[in-house]
Amino acid sequence: MYSSLVRLQNTFGFFTTVAFVIAAFIAASDFASPRAPSVATLKTTSLQVVRGRPHYYSSKKEEYAIIKFSLDANLSSLFTWNTKQVFVYVTAEWPSSGAEGNATNQAVIWDTIITAPSADHLSNLGPASLKKLRKSAAGKSIDPSRGLISLKNQKPKYQITHPSGKIAETQDVRLRLHYNVQPWVGVLAWNQNVDYGRWKRLKGDLSKKFALPALKTKAATTGAAGTGTKA
Ligand SMILES: *[C@@H]1O[C@H](CO)[C@@H](O)[C@H](O)[C@H]1NC(C)=O
Ligand SMILES: *[C@@H]1O[C@H](CO)[C@@H](O)[C@H](O)[C@H]1NC(C)=O
Repeated sequence: MYSSLVRLQNTFGFFTTVAFVIAAFIAASDFASPRAPSVATLKTTSLQVVRGRPHYYSSKKEEYAIIKFSLDANLSSLFTWNTKQVFVYVTAEWPSSGAEGNATNQAVIWDTIITAPSADHLSNLGPASLKKLRKSAAGKSIDPSRGLISLKNQKPKYQITHPSGKIAETQDVRLRLHYNVQPWVGVLAWNQNVDYGRWKRLKGDLSKKFALPALKTKAATTGAAGTGTKA
């Protein structure tokens, strides 16, 4: 017997299926839009190793490195109509010394979140800056300036340390740019090392190798070392 409840259930089940299929299509459509992010510049501008407390919550003094850098990147192709936000971060990485095998040390020194225009209401933009953003995006589905990053002599957000407490004169350090695309519908996607179809690998994501300098002597760092830095 067909009661109205059964009808309601069937209808609801049908709409759930439709919604699921549509979501699957949206997620799959991401693969059809080309991604060709690139990095024009990624280089260090100043290097410093000091001894002190790298964070206000550090209990012990240790060596930490402050890496300032410049970055020019074009991630605009990551912003499609299904992009909610892109998490961008820069790491410093260097090979471990012999005993630890081939493991690579990696530490985040800077990060940011770039929201897509469709997610502006979620970020804490003031009405004035929101108006400006809307104006610059008027008539376009994607603001062309989203995803363009240009940093000059940027201070790191995070100092890097090593569990051993020693980081001065580390060799073969490189900076690397990473991104993580969070779509409205679908799965998270990180930067990849190889091309997948229309998604091209991030070009120029690695800086040249450099070595961290020797520890700055106490006299030279008076007033700098040991002071708390905000994380
Ligand atoms: C950024 O890259 C896109 C392609 O991914 C290109 O169309 C655009 O012109 C580039 N923008 C700049 C400012 O280079
Ligand atoms: C380290 O890398 C070398 C060559 O790349 C390899 O022969 C060796 O087995 C690796 N060692 C470890 C511990 O993975």
